[in-house]
Amino acid sequence: MDISQLIESIDSATSSGKLETIDPQQRAQLFEACNRLKRQCESPLDKTLGLLYTCHQAIAVRLAVDLKLFDAIAKRSSESEDGKVRVSQLSEDVKGDPKLVGRIMKSLVPLDILKQHTSDTFSTTRFTEAYVSSSWMSSAVIFFTHLFLFVAKLPEYFEEKGWKNPDDIQDSPFNFALGSKRGYFDYMSSKPYYQNAFDTVMASPYRRDEKSWMDFFPVEEKLRVQNASDVLLVDVGGGRGKDLQIFRDRFPDLQGRLVLQDLSHVAGTADIPSEIETQAHNFFDEQPVKGAKAYYLRTVLHDWPDKEAVEILSRLREAMSPGSLVLIHEKAMPETNIPWMAAIGDMTMMTAFSARERTKNEWEDLLNRAQLKLTGFWKPEGTSAQQQVIIEGSINLCENC
Ligand SMILES: C[S@@+](CC[C@H](N)C(=O)[O-])C[C@H]1O[C@@H](n2cnc3c(N)ncnc32)[C@H](O)[C@@H]1O
Repeated sequence: MDISQLIESIDSATSSGKLETIDPQQRAQLFEACNRLKRQCESPLDKTLGLLYTCHQAIAVRLAVDLKLFDAIAKRSSESEDGKVRVSQLSEDVKGDPKLVGRIMKSLVPLDILKQHTSDTFSTTRFTEAYVSSSWMSSAVIFFTHLFLFVAKLPEYFEEKGWKNPDDIQDSPFNFALGSKRGYFDYMSSKPYYQNAFDTVMASPYRRDEKSWMDFFPVEEKLRVQNASDVLLVDVGGGRGKDLQIFRDRFPDLQGRLVLQDLSHVAGTADIPSEIETQAHNFFDEQPVKGAKAYYLRTVLHDWPDKEAVEILSRLREAMSPGSLVLIHEKAMPETNIPWMAAIGDMTMMTAFSARERTKNEWEDLLNRAQLKLTGFWKPEGTSAQQQVIIEGSINLCENC
C-alpha cells in the first residue's frame, strides 16, 4: 500500500470542507473507518497520551459549561457582525476573571470547540452550540465528569478492600469516595444540579436514537388488555417518562392505562401528557399496581447488585397475575470482546452501585432467583452497538421446575 497516497487522499478530503456536509449515515460510516485507521496507526505512546489527557479536556468543557460560557458565546456571537466574540466581554457576562476565562477558552481551541483569531478574539465552530445549557449534551458533560470523582478513587478503594469484586451496595466505591453510607440515588436527590443532569441524560435522544425496543419486541401481539381500565404498562423506575410518552405516540389505539413510577423527586419533574399516570413509588416497597399486563424496567436493574435486583423483581412478582409479564430492557453483555461503551457502562455500575452489566445467562439466573421464568429474549436483528435486549419474564407456575 502506498502510504503517501493515502495521506494525500486524507489531506485532500479534509481540506475541501466537503466532509462537513455529508449525510449522517455516511458520516457515521466514515467516522467508524477513521477510528479503525487510527487504532492501527497509533503507537503505545500516542495511546497513553490520548488516555491520560482525556480527563483534562473533558474538565475544560465542564468548566465552560458550569460558567455558562457557551450560552454567553452563542449570544455574543449572534449579536456581532463578524461572529467574533471577545474574552473581555464574555468575562463580564459570566462574571469570571478574564485571565481564567481566556485560559479556559484557549483550552477549547485544540478540541475544535472554539476557533481563536487573536489573543482576545474567538469564534464558534460546529461544536460550540452542543454545550449551551439547553442542550442535553451539556448535561452529559456535567453528569459524566461528576463520575470522575468516584472513578478516580477506585485504586485506593481496591487497595483497601483487598482487590475484591464489589457486590455490596453499602460498601460501594461511590460510598468509599464520599466517605458516607448514602446511596447514589439518595445523594443525588440532595444535589439538584447533578440530579437534573442525570435525569436529562436519561431522557435524552442519545439513549433512544438506536432501534427502539418497540421495533424488536412484538408490542401489539404481547401487550393487550381486556378493558380500557386495566393497566397495560407500568414503567418502573421510569425517570421522566420518556419511554411511556414514545409508547403512547406509537400505539395511540392500544387500550389500557400507562403508569410511570419513580422516586417522588424524579417522577414529580416528568413533563408528560396527562393520560399517563404518575406515581411516586419506591420499588423496594409493595407494588401498588396489581396484575398489570407488563412491568417494564429500563436500565434499572443494572444499577443494583444481585441481592437488591432480586428484591425489586420479587416485589413485581408478588403483584403479577398469571398473564403479567416483566420486561427488562438492558444490555446483554457478550462473553467476549465487549464494545468500549459497554466496558465503561460496566465500570460505572461497579463504581456507583457495586453492580454490573449482565450476560443473558446472568439475567436468566436473576429471574429464577426471584421465582420468575425467562419466557422471551428479544433483540434487534443484526448487530447492535449497545446490545440492547428485552428479557421477558413471567410467573413460574410450575411447582417442581
Ligand atoms: C438509570 S435510571 C433509568 C431511568 C429510565 N428507566 C430510563 O431508562 O430512562 C434509574 C432510575 O431508577 C430510579 N430509582 C432509583 N432508586 C429507586 C427506587 N428505590 N424506587 C424507584 N425508582 C428508583 C432513579 O430515580 C432513576 O430514574
